[in-house]
Amino acid sequence: MVKYEIIDETAVLTLDMEGYSTNVINEASMTAFAEAVSKAVEDSAVKGVVVTSGKKEFVVGADLNMLKGMNDAAQIFEATKKLNELFRKLETCGKPVVAAINGTALGGGYELALACHYRVAVNNPKIEIGLPEVQLGIFPGGGGTQRLPRMVGIQKGLELILQAKRLRPQEALQEKMIDALVETQDELIPHAVQWIKETGRKVQPWDEKGFKIPGGGVMTPQNAQVFTAGIALTRKQTYGNYPGARYAMSAIYEGMLLPFDRALVVESRYFTKALMTKEAKHMIRTLFFHLQEANKGGARPKDVPETTINKVGMLGAGMMGAGIAYVTATAGMNVVLKDVSKEAAEKGKEYSKNLLDKKLSKGHLSKERYEEHLSRILTTGDPKDLTGCDLVIEAVFEDRALKAKVTQEAEAVMNPEGVFASNTSTLPITSLAEASSRPHNFIGMHFFSPVDKMPLVEIIMGKQTSSFALAMAIDYVKKIKKTPIVVNDSRGFFTSRVFATYVGEGISLLVEGCPAALVENAGKQAGMPVGPLALADEVSLSLMLHIIKQTEEDTGQAINEPRAQLARLFVEKLDRPGKKAGKGFYEYPKDGKKYLWPELATHYPVRDDRPDYLTMQKRMLHVQALDAVRCLDEGVVREAKDADVGSIMGWAFAPYTGGVISYIDYVGVEKFVAECDEFHQKYGAPFAHYGSHYAERFVVPESLRKMAAEGRRFYQD
Ligand code: NAI
Repeated sequence: MVKYEIIDETAVLTLDMEGYSTNVINEASMTAFAEAVSKAVEDSAVKGVVVTSGKKEFVVGADLNMLKGMNDAAQIFEATKKLNELFRKLETCGKPVVAAINGTALGGGYELALACHYRVAVNNPKIEIGLPEVQLGIFPGGGGTQRLPRMVGIQKGLELILQAKRLRPQEALQEKMIDALVETQDELIPHAVQWIKETGRKVQPWDEKGFKIPGGGVMTPQNAQVFTAGIALTRKQTYGNYPGARYAMSAIYEGMLLPFDRALVVESRYFTKALMTKEAKHMIRTLFFHLQEANKGGARPKDVPETTINKVGMLGAGMMGAGIAYVTATAGMNVVLKDVSKEAAEKGKEYSKNLLDKKLSKGHLSKERYEEHLSRILTTGDPKDLTGCDLVIEAVFEDRALKAKVTQEAEAVMNPEGVFASNTSTLPITSLAEASSRPHNFIGMHFFSPVDKMPLVEIIMGKQTSSFALAMAIDYVKKIKKTPIVVNDSRGFFTSRVFATYVGEGISLLVEGCPAALVENAGKQAGMPVGPLALADEVSLSLMLHIIKQTEEDTGQAINEPRAQLARLFVEKLDRPGKKAGKGFYEYPKDGKKYLWPELATHYPVRDDRPDYLTMQKRMLHVQALDAVRCLDEGVVREAKDADVGSIMGWAFAPYTGGVISYIDYVGVEKFVAECDEFHQKYGAPFAHYGSHYAERFVVPESLRKMAAEGRRFYQD
């Protein structure tokens, strides 16, 4: 568990947990660590201690399995106290202690480093350093909220903790989160040992007499302002939905007024409160456990051996194709980027070049790697260059006939065992596979824009898609370090279908007489990152209308719901198709900030009998959750956890709830059902005459009603 070595009168403690791929902080690892520390302290021949790791990472944080099982406040408080005592013992042991950061040090891992007297890290841009706990609904509870601000100042400390920042070693050095860098692993321990010999400071600044927090305490005029503004800013960003962030601020504020040991107790109390919230439980479950499972390829068929993907064909070098080519090449695969001509494909390659140029100029990439990545993208206008591709992804225009043509062109030359994937956003995969001579190797791979930033890929199974094709799709998504979720074929698949209900509900609120600004705020206050009307502009109303018309054509049913009527009005009569055109629900002045179109109220006057603000918020989330339940019932998504991960990674559905299905547990199944019934009664009927499914949107599926009646939940913990 902890290797103990003496190098040059220094005890080097190497954490290397058996049975774990990375080191985490839990009872077993900390007990072993405490023993090793005691041994070093008691040995009078030992002049100092170096803490490092035998794994690729340093320490990645607290063992969330352990935290997950803690439901008792007294137990959490005691465990936190014990960890703090250990870290306190380390920094007051009377000998200099160095953290030799050989790999990523996050959360509890970085808190361990903070409890050392000196921190040196390897200058490798792949290493991350920081305290990102707020992202999981908690906050640093191992002394991080007390040590970091005392080291880097209150303003900086608050920022690093509340924004959950993960820094590269170079940036961490600039922010004074670490003290030094070495260029290679080999230099790390010698540097640490040398520091002990030459400097060997063995008292933390906050234990020195007369210690002053850099930049002053909480009562200085500047820091008083930091807190006043900080409270407002946190409120603006979180709308009070993330108690973890609020508790972190309180811990920092109160802790800075107290002697160090008392401050740690205050931190432990707030940490206990944070961990007890349902937000923390839901976020840890989805954003850690289920996300990790998805990233490891949990949905991959186990009986298919790892697939080989050396050469990837990319059809279409437009917005999506250019992005997919970039993530593929930088993941080490060769890409044949094909468009209608070599020139058109070159344009797509420019996109990669621009992104790589930025990385190069910031020093995040070496010149060799830069050249290597770019040289992996071959541009062409000739389908013959797809010869031998193991995987071909198409992102040509959303046109059935064109997609059929490029499928056949590629299949004629690509690896006969290879897989063909379509990045269509709306066309059912089973119907596109009709153009394929091997529909078992035809699959959907739905990326999100911008591809290099968006973490999710929705993999869509057609009726005939084989488990081999699925395995290859998941292997590929893992290689490009994105999160795969697997869904079955349906109109809009899972993500676009459910996400569209949010935009739709926002629009119907507008139609029902809610002021546009209130609709936007209600969406954000409910936890969505962007208001529904701004999103409609982003997606573009013309695309919405196009999809509506295509669906009418495919189903032979007229769609006349409020959303459709509004899209027709905006696109065909008002010429306000969305952001790209500079006008939609918002005005987008070239040289200024966007603002809501002042004439909206002329078309959709504000009414007194409109739904109240809380109802507006609930409707916009409930409508999504209900549709997600339908997706589960219809087998579009296979499991609740896929829906949860997909909703947060795909369209940032209110993360504090744990995702679109977890949300129902969050509200309470029974309460959720009762509210939907009420919404259906009040707000379904007025739209019934539109003659579409829209009026049915708050109708509760039987499965959910049964669940409520039986007192069950989606997740039992
Ligand atoms: P785009 O219009 O930017 O790019 C399409 C590209 O395909 C153009 O460069 C065009 O020259 C090329 N192309 C046309 N015929 C071709 C042929 N025979 N061989 C090779 N290339 C050909 O479109 P965008 O936005 O990249 O979308 C592409 C596909 O991805 C569509 O099916 C779209 O529905 C889907 N999609 C789009 C998303 C988005 O946010 N834009 C998100 C997810 C999917």
